[in-house]
Amino acid sequence: MRRAVCPGSFDPVTNGHLDIIGRASRLYDEVIVAVLVNQSKSGMFTHTERIEMLTEVTAELKNVRIASFQGLLVDFCRDEGVSVVVKGLRAVSDFDYELQMAQMNYGLSGLETLFMPTNPLYSFLSSSLIKDVAKWGGDMSPHVPPIVVERLQAKLRDGH
Ligand code: PNS
Repeated sequence: MRRAVCPGSFDPVTNGHLDIIGRASRLYDEVIVAVLVNQSKSGMFTHTERIEMLTEVTAELKNVRIASFQGLLVDFCRDEGVSVVVKGLRAVSDFDYELQMAQMNYGLSGLETLFMPTNPLYSFLSSSLIKDVAKWGGDMSPHVPPIVVERLQAKLRDGH
């Protein structure tokens, strides 16, 4: 079985993430979306909420599974029997950091990384921009799935 992992913070998932996950799911038998549980970095959404949103928005992709991980990505991939990471590249500015991570992961365990160019429709999207614009009342519905719009609005009503 050819498996790939799409790792990230997903705080929250955007249409750009979904584009990469959907395209990866057409290339591999199984895609594991791995949500980093980062205790030192608190986001807007708890990791349970991130997983709930991801589970709902990928429900139609039958070969996509959502998981969470702590620690090194290479350890998670070894435990899951995955040898490839698929990452989206939005612009050249993503490349520096992504290249460093890819080379480090390859050096650590031989874990391969394949870069997929983001659909230009989503090249300016990031979870942090989404949260910032949403905080000031901007309409996020073109950029994130409806459930994420609802969850963002609920968070902001609760004073986040
Ligand atoms: O959505 P993000 O925050 O850009 O995702 C970054 C992520 C989760 C892919 C990266 O931080 C990661 O793999 N973290 C796990 C810890 C690890 O393996 N660090 C070394 C990477 S070289």
